[in-house]
Order: sequence, then structure tokens, then C-alpha cells
Amino acid sequence: MSEIIRISEEELDRQRAWSDAFAALPHRPETYYIVTYGCQMNAHDSEKIAGILESMGMRPASERTQADFVLHNTCCIRDNAERKALGNVTWLKEVRRDRPGMLIGVCGCMVQQPGMAAKLLRQYPFIDLAFGTGNLYRLPELLFRAAESGKRVIDIPAEESTLAESLPIRRSSPFQAYVTIMYGCNNYCSYCIVPYVRGRERSRRSNDILREIEELQRGGVREIMLLGQNVNSYGSGSEEDISFASLLRMIGRTGIERIRFMTSHPKDLSDELIDEMAHNPHILRHFHLPVQSGSNRVLQAMNRRYTREKYLERLSALRAAMPDIGVTTDLIVAFPGETEAEFEDTLSLTEEAQFDSAFTFIYSPRAGTKAAQLPGAIMPEVATERIERLIALQEGITDRILAEQTGKRVNVLVTGHARREDDLLTGKCERNISVNFPGPDECIGSIVPVEITSAKKTTLRGKIIKEQTA
Ligand code: 5AD
Ligand code: SF4
Repeated sequence: MSEIIRISEEELDRQRAWSDAFAALPHRPETYYIVTYGCQMNAHDSEKIAGILESMGMRPASERTQADFVLHNTCCIRDNAERKALGNVTWLKEVRRDRPGMLIGVCGCMVQQPGMAAKLLRQYPFIDLAFGTGNLYRLPELLFRAAESGKRVIDIPAEESTLAESLPIRRSSPFQAYVTIMYGCNNYCSYCIVPYVRGRERSRRSNDILREIEELQRGGVREIMLLGQNVNSYGSGSEEDISFASLLRMIGRTGIERIRFMTSHPKDLSDELIDEMAHNPHILRHFHLPVQSGSNRVLQAMNRRYTREKYLERLSALRAAMPDIGVTTDLIVAFPGETEAEFEDTLSLTEEAQFDSAFTFIYSPRAGTKAAQLPGAIMPEVATERIERLIALQEGITDRILAEQTGKRVNVLVTGHARREDDLLTGKCERNISVNFPGPDECIGSIVPVEITSAKKTTLRGKIIKEQTA
């Protein structure tokens, strides 16, 4: 049984004292800007970091070039995520020529990689502050030390990260909220760096999760997104005897209107979960179920622990229970040794599965993972050609599925104005597809019934359904 390590009240008190000490510094940084890379988990970590910084008396800056403290919350899932972050950090060094005193920080997954502390010290001497994924609760102390001493502070613990309950969170939306239900991952897919940078799987206690959701609901939140690297295995190995399906049942009873979750692993997608989804009116009709490849040989080399047939069977079970569910996926092309025929298996699976949409990636070797040692690297030209074929196939499928939505009635949580068509409102329907439609600003933050009138690339168009009055 894995032990859940919690930050003690004493440690949290100590950090509050550092916060006060920071606020009392005569020439302390006043404003902050966080640049976030990567997944929702990281976006949520940035909300936690912002909450801590504001509890220290700092204010957000509108632009990063104007901030006293710029923090890069990094990702390392693929090489380009890492390069982008390091490129931006280096660019900021130039900006600082005009703004001496600006503090430059990096945190998150990239920083947590083995050997990164030494690399940062050696190759990026202009970084003032670095910390990992599990010690962000110590930010008051670390930032105080950096601001007061003017010396670099690098704090990257090698041990597993700790569960930090009751930290302040600066939520970026008043009606949608992320709720972490578990941290880390035990799956060790052979290509993936996550277990090395986010640690072993640890589930939060259901009581803590429920309390957080009840509080969000009282504050006006309509929709929550439950976060975890592998939410389907929530509770396994924890001191509580609880499954993800039973957690969902309890969350449904809080009365929160809309529940989403990600990410799921096909091997752990149980009938119990499918049944719970089908019967719990609060759970939305969207399932993100990364398949990665359609070839059984490649799936095995990826250590995914399911076959193509098993994946398609789970998909059928989902659709049998919920005919209107939208399924999305992640796909990797050019895994080491992937033959043309194996890639074609991914194409045929994509055709068969009929995903609403897919995130497609070219395999990127990550130091320290099993796959990084495999022979059979695919030539970049071949990898590019494969991903282009895959994207073209998926685009056709997405077009068809979106066109099929015409005439349907959906419920949209209105989140604001459409990005490119500012005169339209926008939000996501149950299937997680964006829907744009005309309507009054007063609708923002509420859930409105919409009839779909047409489809355009990745978004739907619609009109508000006026309630019939007798
Ligand atoms: N190379 C390419 N894609 C990767 N992913 C994870 N690791 C790698 C890698 N080394 C993709 C997977 C995963 C998604 C979050 O990122 O498809 O589901
Ligand atoms: Fe998210 Fe993984 Fe990137 Fe970390 S490395 S930010 S967990 S995608």
C-alpha cells in the first residue's frame, strides 16, 4: 500500500511565516507573471502558484515584460515542449537588460527531470529560482530567499512529491474549475517521462475532494474537471477502499452540475465506470481515451498492456451504454521500429474508432525512459509523412462527425465570446465540442440549450432554444 504523505500543519504555518517575511521586505518584487506549458495538470499547478503568490501580497502583471517575477511552469513530455520553454527563458534574459531586478524562475516537469538541477546551474546562470513539481508549497520560503539574498535558489527534491491540501488557489474561471484527484503515475509507458517527473501514483482522500467540490459549488462553479494522469485507477493502493466509479457517485451527490475528467487509461476502464457514467446525469458525454497506436506489436513495446482488440471492445462498451458519447484520443507515430504496416494499423484503427478528434504526436525520445534505448529510430521525413497522413484521415472523420451534429439539441456552458468571432458567444457542449452562437452577454456563466445549425472545422454553430411558453 502506498503511503500518502501530507504536508504537516506546522510546515504550512512555517510557509505562512515566510510569506509574512516576504511581504515585509523593503524592495520586494510586487508583480508576477506565470508562463504555463503542458497539460491541464500544469495549468492547475499555475493556479495554485498564483494563489500562493497573491497570498504573499503580489499582484499579477498584464505582460511578462512588465513583471518583477516571471515564472515558467514547464513541461517535458516532448522535446519541443522543453525547447520552447528554454527558448523563452533565454529571451527573457535579454528583456531583463532593461529591467534589472526582474527575477526569472522555472518550475514544473522539465525542472524535475533527473540531472536537470546540474544543467540549470551550469548552462542557465541567469535563472534566479528553480523548483520542482512536488515542492511548490515551499514557494514563500524559496522566493523570500531569492529576493532577499539576490542569490540563486535551486530546490529540486529527488523524493516523491507531497500532497498539499488547503493551499490557496487563484482559479482562472468563476464557473469552471480543475480538481486534482490524484498525482503521479505508475504505468511506465515506455515512451513517457511523467512517472519520473511527477512521481508514483498517489490518490487524494475522497473527503478532501468532496469538500473542495462543495466549496466550489457554493462559490458558483457549474462544471468541474477532475484531474489525474490515470484517473481510472483512482484509489488503488490508497488507504481508502474506493474506486473511481464510486468517487464519481459521491461527487454526483454534491449536486455539482457538470463533471468531466481526464485522463483515462484503456486498461483500467471498468464496466463499473461505464455503468456509473451512463446513470449519473452529472457526468458529461465525453471520454478522452488515449490509444497511442493501432498495432499490437507497438502497443506491447509501449508497455500499454492492452491490445487493439481490447481497446475497440472498450470503445464499443462505452458506446453501447451511451450512444451519444464523444470519444477523443492521443496517437503517437514513428515509435522506434514502427514499420509502414504497423503505422497503417494505426490508420485503420483510427478509421474504425471514429474519434471526435485526436491529438497526434511524433514520437520524441525522452532520456531515462525505456523507449529511448530502443533501436529503429524513424527518419524525420518518414515521421512527418506519417503524421500528415494521420491528421488528414482524422480531419475527414471530425468533419463528418461535426456535420452529423446539425439539428441536435445540446447544453452549452457559456464561457465567453468566440475567439475569432467576437460577436458570438462560445462554450462546450456535453461532448466537449466548442459551440458558437449569438446571444446576450448575460448568458455567460450559465448553461443554455442550443440547437446546432451547422459545423465549421472544429467548432459547431447554433442558436439558443427559446423555452416554449404556454
Ligand atoms: N513522444 C511523443 N508523444 C508522447 N506522449 C507522451 N510521451 C510522448 C513522447 N515521448 C503523448 C502521448 C500522451 C500525450 C499526453 O502525449 O500520446 O497520451
Ligand atoms: Fe503535463 Fe506530462 Fe507535460 Fe508534466 S510532462 S506538464 S505532466 S504533459
